[in-house]
Amino acid sequence: MNDYKVPKEILARVKSISEEILKHNYNYYVLDKPEITDHLYDQLFRELQELEAKYPSVSSEHSPTKRVGGEPLSSFSIFKHDPPMMSLDNIFSKDELIVYEERILRFLEKENGKKKFDYVIEPKLDGVAVEVIYTDGNFSYGGTRGDGINGEDVTENLRTIRSLPLRLLRGKDLPVSPKYLSIRGEVVFPISSFHDLNIKREKEGVSLFANPRNAAAGSLRQLDSSVTSSRPLDIFFYALGRCEGYDFSSQSEMLEILPKWGLPVSPFATVCSSTEEIYLLYQDFLEKRRNFSYELDGMVIKVNSFSYQKLLGNTSRAPRWATAYKFPAESSTTIVKDIIFQVGRTGTVTPVAILKPVKVGGVEVSRATLHNEGEIFRKDILVGDTVNIERAGDVIPKISSVINSKRPKDAYRKNFPEKCPVCEKLLYKHIDEAAIRCTNVLCSAVVSERIKHFASTSAMDIDGLGEKMIEKLVTSEYVNEPSDLYRLRFEKLLLLDRMGNKSAKNLIDSIEKSKNTTLDRFIFSLGIRFVGDRVSKIIALNYKSINELMHADKESLLKLDDIGEIVAESIVTFFSTLESLKFVENLLEVGISFNINENEQNDVKEGAFSNKSFVITGTLKKIKRADAKKLIEKLGGRLLGSVSNKTDYLILGDDPGKKYNDALKLGIEILNEDKFENLLAGV
Ligand code: IVH
Repeated sequence: MNDYKVPKEILARVKSISEEILKHNYNYYVLDKPEITDHLYDQLFRELQELEAKYPSVSSEHSPTKRVGGEPLSSFSIFKHDPPMMSLDNIFSKDELIVYEERILRFLEKENGKKKFDYVIEPKLDGVAVEVIYTDGNFSYGGTRGDGINGEDVTENLRTIRSLPLRLLRGKDLPVSPKYLSIRGEVVFPISSFHDLNIKREKEGVSLFANPRNAAAGSLRQLDSSVTSSRPLDIFFYALGRCEGYDFSSQSEMLEILPKWGLPVSPFATVCSSTEEIYLLYQDFLEKRRNFSYELDGMVIKVNSFSYQKLLGNTSRAPRWATAYKFPAESSTTIVKDIIFQVGRTGTVTPVAILKPVKVGGVEVSRATLHNEGEIFRKDILVGDTVNIERAGDVIPKISSVINSKRPKDAYRKNFPEKCPVCEKLLYKHIDEAAIRCTNVLCSAVVSERIKHFASTSAMDIDGLGEKMIEKLVTSEYVNEPSDLYRLRFEKLLLLDRMGNKSAKNLIDSIEKSKNTTLDRFIFSLGIRFVGDRVSKIIALNYKSINELMHADKESLLKLDDIGEIVAESIVTFFSTLESLKFVENLLEVGISFNINENEQNDVKEGAFSNKSFVITGTLKKIKRADAKKLIEKLGGRLLGSVSNKTDYLILGDDPGKKYNDALKLGIEILNEDKFENLLAGV
């Protein structure tokens, strides 16, 4: 095509996208700190590829489309890849899949009239690509991909990865391991450990990793390999560099042999022979993408036969015999319209970003918690900023980063307030804590949150005392603390806005009814930090009265199952303040009395679920969580907050969280709502 008259705007656009891509390559590969989402990056890359195809003269050999990745970091020595490590082209839709297959068919037909062939479909792992060399079956050295020709030598760090064999397995029934093997794969960071790592980093005050891929890169590119060793990295192999001494004929054969030598491969690779099959598999991957232990950003389609791969060959950047079929974005970009400060039950003030509503992974998001003051600073979030929103392993979306290049001139910082945004009393920061708190016990936000907790289903279970009603009671100053609820008079309630006879009577009745409770519910209702409903039950089983608990020391609490330092300390501290003692005393004064614990009743009644522990993840459609909990407990089971190897069943709702991954990993029996119902029916 003759394109000597390339419009000026096109030239300018090509220049600006090229520069932008180079900058993002640097952020991604060298700094491990991407500024934009993969999806936006792919869009830019595509646009440039299309412009270069349309106007070949604008394309130079230095164009980012001709390069594979980033430059190696200077502090590691260079690792040369021979042959170079290629990248992959992307497709995003069924139509593109059809076009892709047609292209392969045309090519193979032209070459030697071949028509029938199959593909191997593998998950596209989102981690760091590496090459590892084995000589005479021994791990020799390895490096990151870098720009595809030169990577960084991270031999010592690779050595610390538990799943990477330092010696290939040999045995009389095994294929002879090769004299020389260079093999490529992905180093990945487990999603479940990613969250723990970030919690730890937050406590240490160091910057958080944006996603498991950055955690993998940050862990592998450490100058001190003992740091790498402390991280739970994993590796999966998927491509051959060079192999002397064994001749593979196809990708599927390679994926069968590698594990025999001890080299891990993804267990989810599948051979397919038509685009229809590939598409079905794609939909299946897409549906289950949250269930994997490692982050996936799509799947990779590879022509299975190595001789066909050879026929198809490569372009300057990527092989023709493979392509990535990417998942749609689970991340998005939007604008921060405001940052507000919310006061919680314990008085903690949490910054919350108010966002221009945007869909992320199918869900509309209009706010994101910023956790604490440190987070706003670390991520440097200003009002007016364009930010990346991500839903990773987590269900709750978060701001992963700010796109600095899109910061408007009038963007402004929202400083953490010095005074409580609700009661205007001075805020307080404890030296050991990241949190900033309002310590005014009469702050209406704190009071409302405390009452909300006190009245909730797992606490005193006061029917009809919802958020709106609580707000009315608190702003009218009828209620300043939970015990005031029990002093409410019918006549006074009638004075409240839109309060009729019937609702006033119902409210008084349900408050009265709640007086008759169990010790575990009462303990939970006090809202002691780190004392959830499960811990409350454990305590109630061991301390027969509230008075006994109020005098308990740390050592005796520590003897209880599942109660560690932090919880024990929190309980003792709670009961050591006069305020809390008065708070409990007031409640006892209004006539709260205790039945035997529900747990004890269960113990007596030896239920069908006795000794069985359940965990719920996601939203249940048919039954309220609190009701499911009641049923489980009624039958003698326990509902726990997190999955461990002691969990018997995971009940799976919509939009499950990380507990689902944990359960899959530990091989715990998973019940969808129907199965849970059947289990109940069979009792
Ligand atoms: S094959 C020449 N297989 O995706 C083929 N790559 O965007 C080279 N990746 O650099 C790659 N899972 O880091 C291949 N099953 C898989 C993969 C995979 C993840 C990564 C790899 C590659 C990148 C391209």
